[in-house]
Amino acid sequence: MSRQSAPSSGIRFERVSVAYGKRGGLGARGANGTYTALDSFDLTVEPGEVMALLGPSGSGKTTALRAVAGFVQPVSGRVLIGDRDVTALPPHRRGIGMVVQQYALFPHMRVEQNVAFGLKAQRVPRGEIAGRVAEALEMTGMAAYARRYPRELSGGQQQRVAIARALAIRPGVLLLDEPLSALDAQLRSGMLAELARLHRELPDVSILYVTHDQVEALTLADRIAVLDKARLQDCGTPQDLYRRPRTEFTASFVGNANLLPVSVGTGGVRFAGTELAVATVDVMPGADAILCVRPHLVGLGEGENTLRGTIAEVQWRGSTHRLFVDVAGHRVKADVRELRETPALGAAVALHFAAHDAVLLPAGTGQAATGPVAGETDAEAAASTPSVTAVVGAISVAKGAGGDIDG
Ligand SMILES: Nc1ncnc2c1ncn2[C@@H]1O[C@H](COP(=O)(O)OP(=O)(O)O)[C@@H](O)[C@H]1O
Ligand SMILES: [Mg+2]
Repeated sequence: MSRQSAPSSGIRFERVSVAYGKRGGLGARGANGTYTALDSFDLTVEPGEVMALLGPSGSGKTTALRAVAGFVQPVSGRVLIGDRDVTALPPHRRGIGMVVQQYALFPHMRVEQNVAFGLKAQRVPRGEIAGRVAEALEMTGMAAYARRYPRELSGGQQQRVAIARALAIRPGVLLLDEPLSALDAQLRSGMLAELARLHRELPDVSILYVTHDQVEALTLADRIAVLDKARLQDCGTPQDLYRRPRTEFTASFVGNANLLPVSVGTGGVRFAGTELAVATVDVMPGADAILCVRPHLVGLGEGENTLRGTIAEVQWRGSTHRLFVDVAGHRVKADVRELRETPALGAAVALHFAAHDAVLLPAGTGQAATGPVAGETDAEAAASTPSVTAVVGAISVAKGAGGDIDG
């Protein structure tokens, strides 16, 4: 592809804090009635990296994105794109493409006009615009739809146009705010693959991808930053966060986990009266801790670490059975290969797991209130600021769009 791409540039948050006015919300309440939606946020997105910002509704993800786009002004800290401090720059001078949940296409403009919008705003020479529009539509598979109006397109097609519009300006940085959450499950999985392909075609573009859906984050991201209550909780590669979460919150939010309350001894831990071996004990002996074991790493029968209990519930899931086993009043989940005979409720069973599959976490590092369900809509987030988010997306590329539209 002859596409000349923008110089590769990363994104850096340096202790960025954002506070909003007195409206309701979940952030930490400050002294003067404002509350903090983003609290001393530090994060570096490397050039060409896909960073997912993962967290529950209201955790501050969109706020972080707006701080990069320039639609909110941090009360403290700096935002850098490449090695440029953009904290004081208006949105149209930041070289950013942005896509939001509700597409935010202009209904009275044809697809090609929508895609050309940011180019005109950037005063790209007339003769160049048609080629750039064609290129962006080509990349998103929408070349055949250039003359249509948004209302003549499906949701998935509209989202492709929104992505084409963001790409047309050849941004060094692409901001995606829950771009797939308005699509149904099947379309979403197709679009995930599309986004992965687009990134392979544009390896220099740094992408900050906001989602509350762990599957999207695990699938697409080079690294995941986990956000909760306005703060960065954890950051690492998907495998890292899944296999070696550092906090109880990450363990419960990224993937399914058994989180067993244990007390720490010198060589191992004690759970419900049973001594268990763990690979690393980096929590103070005598302290309370949480043992994280993934359900698919728990087997039926005795082994290195054995737990005894009774079957409380069995779910058949096609290729696997999920067993819920009561162990001294705690519910332990085990995903085992489909069993020929479904165990009877109340039957006594032994479960086992290997020491190296268990991760010891400090207690009191938070737990996700409800585990995220793949495919769930971010209803609360959508309800809190829908029009603002949509407008931000629509005018993010427009010249002169600075100013406080959050007010
Ligand atoms: N314009 C605004 N004015 C006041 N409060 C806001 C505004 N935008 C977001 N908030 C609040 O800030 C917090 C973080 O919001 P947001 O960044 O949108 O979270 P997320 O994208 O993770 O769902 C929430 O409590 C939300 O209600
Ligand atoms: Mg949001």
